[in-house]
Amino acid sequence: MSAREVVLGIGGGIAAYKSCELLRRLQDAGFGVTVIPTPSSLHFVGKATWEALSGRAVTTTVWERVDEVRHVHLAKVSEFNIIAPATADLIARIAHGRADDLLTNTLLASKAPTLIVPAMHPTMWANKATQSNVSLLRDRGYVVMEPDHGRLTGSDIGVGRFPETSRIVATFKEMTDKANDLSGIKVLVTAGGTREMIDPIRFIGNNSSGRQGFAIAKAAMRRGAEVTLVLANSILPDLPGITTVRVTSADQMFAEVHSRFALCDVIAMSAAVADARPAQYSDSKIKKGSLSSIELTANKDIIATVAKDKKNQVVIAFAAETNLDIEEGERKLLAKSADILFLNDVSGSEIFGSDETQGVILTSQVSQSIERVMVDRISKDTLADLLLDQALNKLG
Ligand code: CTP
Repeated sequence: MSAREVVLGIGGGIAAYKSCELLRRLQDAGFGVTVIPTPSSLHFVGKATWEALSGRAVTTTVWERVDEVRHVHLAKVSEFNIIAPATADLIARIAHGRADDLLTNTLLASKAPTLIVPAMHPTMWANKATQSNVSLLRDRGYVVMEPDHGRLTGSDIGVGRFPETSRIVATFKEMTDKANDLSGIKVLVTAGGTREMIDPIRFIGNNSSGRQGFAIAKAAMRRGAEVTLVLANSILPDLPGITTVRVTSADQMFAEVHSRFALCDVIAMSAAVADARPAQYSDSKIKKGSLSSIELTANKDIIATVAKDKKNQVVIAFAAETNLDIEEGERKLLAKSADILFLNDVSGSEIFGSDETQGVILTSQVSQSIERVMVDRISKDTLADLLLDQALNKLG
């Protein structure tokens, strides 16, 4: 046993032979590696190779070494899992919670951060079924790498190639370095868009999908934080390991945030909160003849209200602007007593519902100045980690 144990899962693709090198690099990095091949992967690289390279016994089904209850034991001792190569079939089986060999049983029993490294023919990778399985896994907190572009086993060229070992090791290192850096930290995240009901049928709402806040909640959980997500009107699912509180209106969101703020270390206010609500709610459907105007009343500014009396909390706010007005972003950073503000360029409406984003991270400095970091089209998951890195810096 090593101080840091890893399960290396091998799927049944030709890239399995490249994972022999990956295994060596993981050992060089100080990890104790137990290899779990799928039974079909043994067509490409046999058990003897894995046993010789890892110096450990290798089994593929739950029917070997039954006395050890290997799937539960390995799930408990392994600090990380890395699945390389992950075939389309293996990705589908993990996404759907199948447990039909030792590897999928172990993953199902494991709570450890998991890196999935796909390798397959480009049309299989681009297939909607595979892409939807990958999204499902990412939504559940798995890190799924993008495969490389290049020549495949046959003569075809495209996106689906197993990434270079150095890129896999770098991604894995990033995951392991961040695995517990937020341990003991309480992170409160808001996400989604509030709805202000006009009558039982109609509401004032907005386009927010909740994806950015969801990405922050997932990243914080992966990094060991205790996470509460106050989620408004989002179809995104509850995630194991995250306390999810569902709300509808700005008032409800205010109540949930207000009661939790004093106990949190970091708040990420990514929800799109309606600035106003109908002055009067009608219990019955308003007939169209009476719907010529709606009188509005202002909602509380949630983050500005709770953050003005902050103690040591790090406050992350967002601003969605259709033109990247940095001075307006800086004004909002100060007005909301925030430490960090992501000024989101939502022009072209490509950001709402997308997995990617762009804008500027504004961070207040001890010198009273504000640092600007331009962010050009990155995934919402990557932005989540960047914002949490900044928050961690502020927490000291
Ligand atoms: N916010 C909030 N409560 C509100 C409105 C906004 O807590 N009632 C938070 C948002 O979650 C975000 C930040 O304030 O973190 C900025 O939101 P934004 O809509 O860009 O700013 P507003 O203050 O509403 O200004 P405007 O709509 O005039 O741009």
